[in-house]
Amino acid sequence: MSYLVWPEHIGIIMDGNGRWAKLRGLPRSAGHKEGARVMEDIIVYAEKETDIKFLTFYAFSTENWSRPADEIKSLMQLFELHLDRLIATTDKHDIVIKFIGDRSRLSDTLVEKMKKCEEKSGKNEKLTVYIAINYGGRQEIAFAAREVAKKVQHGELLIDEIDEKTLEREIFTKESPHADLIIRPSGEQRLSNFLLWQSAYSEFYFDGVLWPDFTKDDLIRAVTEFNKRNRRFGGI
Ligand code: FPP
Repeated sequence: MSYLVWPEHIGIIMDGNGRWAKLRGLPRSAGHKEGARVMEDIIVYAEKETDIKFLTFYAFSTENWSRPADEIKSLMQLFELHLDRLIATTDKHDIVIKFIGDRSRLSDTLVEKMKKCEEKSGKNEKLTVYIAINYGGRQEIAFAAREVAKKVQHGELLIDEIDEKTLEREIFTKESPHADLIIRPSGEQRLSNFLLWQSAYSEFYFDGVLWPDFTKDDLIRAVTEFNKRNRRFGGI
C-alpha cells in the first residue's frame, strides 16, 4: 500500500443501521447496537494505527426526535450503556471524548455519563473524538450567534467587529480544524445538518456499505480517495 496522508479531522455520519437490521430480520435497535460497536472499533483503530487527530461521529440529530418513541428510547439506553464502555476504553487508549449538541433534552443519567466520559478522558491527548448527540449544524450556528449577541449586549464587542472568526470562537468544535473529510456510508449522499459550518471545504466520500458493516478497510478506502483529491480552498 502506498503511503497514506491521514486527514486531521474526519466527520462520520453513521447511517444504515436500520437497513442492516431489517436485512437480518432484526429490530432497528440491533442495528444501532452493532453500529455502536463499529464506532468504538473505528475509534480504537484511529488512535492506534493512524495520524487522525479529530473524529466526529453523528449519533443523534436534532431531527431524530421525530422517530418513533420506542426507537428514541432504545437509542438513549444504548448511549448510556455504551458510554460506560467508552469510559473504560479511554483508560486504555489515548483518546479524549467530547460531546457536541444540546444536552437540555437528554436525561440526567445520560448527561452525567457524558460529563464523566469527558472528565475521565480529559487528560488524554492523541485523538479527540467528538460525539454529536442532539446536534444539528443549524442549531450550532444559532447557538454561536446567541453567544456573540450576548457579548455585544455586555459591551464586549461592537456589531461591526463581528466576522467569521468571532463566530468560529463559539462553534462547538472550536478546538479542532474544520473537517477535512466527511464520510457517509449507506448510499445516501447528503449532509443532513451535520457540521454545516465546518464542512465549507470538506471533501465528501459516499459509500454503499451500511454502517454496522463498516470496517477499517472502508476507512482506508475513503482516505485513499481523499489523498487523490486536489484541495484548492477556492484558490487555483
Ligand atoms: C442512522 O441510521 C443512525 C442513527 C440515527 C443512530 C446512530 C447511533 C449509533 C451508531 C450509536 C452510537 C453510540 C454512542 C455511544 C454515541 P438509520 O437508523 O437512519 O439507518 P437507516 O437509514 O438504514 O434506517
